[in-house]
Amino acid sequence: MNRTSPNGKDETVGRLLTRAQIQRLVAKHGREVIEHQHMQIERCCYQHGNVTTFEHSIRVACLAVWLADRAHLWYHVNLRSLIRAALLHDYFLYDWHDWDNGQHRWHGFTHGHAALMNALKDFDLNDIERNSIENHMFPMTPVPPAYIEGYLVTLSDKLSATAETFSFDRFNKPHLPSLEAHIKHRVAR
Ligand SMILES: [Fe+2]
Ligand SMILES: [Fe+2]
Repeated sequence: MNRTSPNGKDETVGRLLTRAQIQRLVAKHGREVIEHQHMQIERCCYQHGNVTTFEHSIRVACLAVWLADRAHLWYHVNLRSLIRAALLHDYFLYDWHDWDNGQHRWHGFTHGHAALMNALKDFDLNDIERNSIENHMFPMTPVPPAYIEGYLVTLSDKLSATAETFSFDRFNKPHLPSLEAHIKHRVAR
C-alpha cells in the first residue's frame, strides 16, 4: 500500500518504517529547521550528557516518528508538523548550564515558551507546532499538549533525555565550538 496520504507521506504504509526511512523523513520535512543558521547555536551547547541540543532534537524527531509509526497513528498525525515541532522543541538558543546571573534557574519551566518565541521569529508555524513546542515539558509545566503530535514530542523527549542523561558516554565530552560568534550574529539581526 502506498503511503501518500493523509499527510502527503511518500514512504510505504502497511510496513513498519526502518531507521533509514525515518531519518530520511526527518531530513525532508525538517530541512528548513535543520538548515537554519540559528541551529548552529544548538550545535554548540550540550543538552544532556554528551549530546548537544541539536543532536537531542534530531533524536526526539526520529523517536517521535518511530512511536507514531509503531502505534499506527498515521491517520491521526500530521507528519511534517510532528517533525518540525520535535526539532524546535528546545529552540531556546542558549546554554542552560551557564549560570548567567541566575537567569536560567527556571529553565525547566520556562524554556518551552522561550523556544516557541524564538521559533516564531524564524519560522512560520501552524497551531500544532506552536502548541506542541510550548507545552512539551508537561507535566512539569501545567498545560498539557492539545494535539497528539504534542504528546508524541513530550514522550520522545522524556525517553531521549533519560537515555542521554544516564548514558556512560556522558563521561566523554569533547570540547564544542564557541557559542559567541553565533550569538553575536543573532543579536545583530
Ligand atoms: Fe525541553
Ligand atoms: Fe528536549
